[in-house]
Amino acid sequence: MSTQSTTTPDELVTLTIADADPAPRTLAHDVHDGLTQPFKQLPPKHLYDDHGSDLFAQICELPEYYPTRTERSILVARSAELAERTGAVDLVELGAGFATKTRVLLDAMQAGGTLRRFVPFDVSAPTVRQCSGEISAAYGIPVHGIVGDFERDLDLVPEPIGPRIVAILGGTLGNLPPGSRRHFLGRLRGLLGEEGRMLIGIDLVKDPAVIEAAYNDGAGVTSAFNRNVLTMLNRELGADFPVDEYEHVAFFDRRHEWIDIRLRAVRDHVVRIPALGLEVPFAAREELRTEISSKFTRERIAGDLAASGLELEDLLTDDDGLFGLALARVA
Ligand code: SAH
Ligand code: TRP
Repeated sequence: MSTQSTTTPDELVTLTIADADPAPRTLAHDVHDGLTQPFKQLPPKHLYDDHGSDLFAQICELPEYYPTRTERSILVARSAELAERTGAVDLVELGAGFATKTRVLLDAMQAGGTLRRFVPFDVSAPTVRQCSGEISAAYGIPVHGIVGDFERDLDLVPEPIGPRIVAILGGTLGNLPPGSRRHFLGRLRGLLGEEGRMLIGIDLVKDPAVIEAAYNDGAGVTSAFNRNVLTMLNRELGADFPVDEYEHVAFFDRRHEWIDIRLRAVRDHVVRIPALGLEVPFAAREELRTEISSKFTRERIAGDLAASGLELEDLLTDDDGLFGLALARVA
């Protein structure tokens, strides 16, 4: 793997980039596999191009999208306790995005006098750059930003400099299918060192109507976010998806207890993808899966952690039991 590290003149921000552009590097293969299967699908990391990352930030502000504000409220209520319990000096955040909520935890670590470094890791280069600069300036601490794929490039995460928290917030763990989720947690175990903790944001199982509303907002932002992946394929691979002729679909799958997010072709057509030498037929009403978002019970997260050599130490929730922050350590 070719990596590149740069340190800015003020020497507080270091950026490590797995590749010039990690998402496009795997895009062609992912799309080729995903669109030639009997049930078409695309891996979710490709939703977060520059425009997708901005649309996701808008989703987080929607009235229907309860996860962000609920996770923030748990962080506000419990960060001081988390900072003290873990004694963490170093915070690694996977899928950090703009790391907006993370500041609540950074504030508590700084107030407790332990904060020494932040390591945001994301597949989106502009978000890592922006958040690294802003956080090093706001806190006066070294920030080591990493642009890469957290399912592939975890070896770029620097060694711990003391007790650390490895966080993955926003329900992102639930976007991995169950087998990959356990494999991923097992690999994260290796980042923790002896005293490290994992802090995992998980959306909890609840009334399906509440969950479905969060992924079918009235303003249509989620629909725009979902369909943006087709615009990205048209741009990056020269595909000719008729983006306006796809509908956003999101429903709660009660058996798997996950939200299933799809794009449905309105009419019968063939999509050409010159970069892959591929023609992909879509039947009228045929669906393409773009994401799943698993909803958790205590048993589900405890089971996933146990299968990965980790143990659930605590599950912090809001009073309505909408969202949880799982604190875990090496078993
Ligand atoms: N943590 C933020 C953002 C969550 S959205 C919050 O809680 O609001 C998911 C984030 O994970 C996006 O920023 C996306 O770019 C990133 N992401 C998704 N798949 C990834 C992957 N395979 N590797 C690295 N980052 C990924
Ligand atoms: N991690 C977010 C979640 O599972 C991702 C997300 C929110 C999402 N809304 C979406 C992904 C809509 C695709 C489409 O809640």
